[in-house]
Amino acid sequence: MSERKSSSDTRLSELYENLSRYSYNINRLKGKSRFTMHKPLQIPAEVQHLYVDKDKSNYLDDLVLIEAGLPENPRVLDAGCGFGGSIFRWNHLRPGIYHGMTLSNYQKSIALREAQRRGVSANCMFYVQNYLEPINIKYHGIIAIESLIHSSDLNATLSNFTQALLLKGKLAIVDDMSRDEQVRHEEDYQLLKDYWYLTDIPSEMDYVELLGKNNLKIISNLDLTPQIRFNSDRLLSQKIRRTKFLLRLMPIKSLRIFLRTHLGGFALQKLYNKGMMKYQLIVAQKES
Ligand SMILES: C[S@@+](CC[C@H](N)C(=O)[O-])C[C@H]1O[C@@H](n2cnc3c(N)ncnc32)[C@H](O)[C@@H]1O
Repeated sequence: MSERKSSSDTRLSELYENLSRYSYNINRLKGKSRFTMHKPLQIPAEVQHLYVDKDKSNYLDDLVLIEAGLPENPRVLDAGCGFGGSIFRWNHLRPGIYHGMTLSNYQKSIALREAQRRGVSANCMFYVQNYLEPINIKYHGIIAIESLIHSSDLNATLSNFTQALLLKGKLAIVDDMSRDEQVRHEEDYQLLKDYWYLTDIPSEMDYVELLGKNNLKIISNLDLTPQIRFNSDRLLSQKIRRTKFLLRLMPIKSLRIFLRTHLGGFALQKLYNKGMMKYQLIVAQKES
């Protein structure tokens, strides 16, 4: 397999290795085993009864599955699969072959162990692989939840995914997208980029343009921003102060990376509070 890894991807692997290790184990200490990393959304009243006492992060996975409209017994790639939580949910609702791609060995090992525990190892497989590496399988669907913001080259990533889709195959993306160019003037934009090692924070229009350029026709575009639960700026300021204080004292490199990742998350929330970001679900279909 040929490797195209930028230095930002190498730092990103390190970020995800540490973030995953700490967040997974902190959740376990709290008695929770969470296999997804995406934002919990407010669930609309009409479907709330489906998620009572259940993992509420299933809601977004279910919504994406419905919008992606995958066929029976699909072959699906989860690009940026985290611990495999979305894959386990989709395979439960729509059994098929699911491949998870991640930059983190730790995420892969947790996902493989959980697949074994659930008895779904033949359906759910996980690989450490970069978005830009060649993909030799053709999929009915490629799904990327909160993962493409990390792409070091969004156009090359979309082009690689497009060639890995069957004709009429679907690419479903959920991500934090900037509303427009204005965001580039914000201090929090720079902080978010620095803390998360981002090359850019693409806007919804950037996605629309690059999907079109790659012969992917948008068939659904939903704004999920109103469903995000925001922290107030006051609470964020407290959290930032506390985290920076800990960062100043922290001698352990892996914990420093973990704290910096949180600071990136707080900068992102501040941009949302200023109305500069959108949480968008876009589904596009391969036309030729
Ligand atoms: C915020 S996590 C989201 C995980 C999962 N989609 C979820 O919602 O729980 C981002 C994921 O993208 C992966 N990722 C980021 N950049 C990547 C790249 N260049 N190639 C492959 N995976 C990448 C990370 O390893 C991680 O699994």
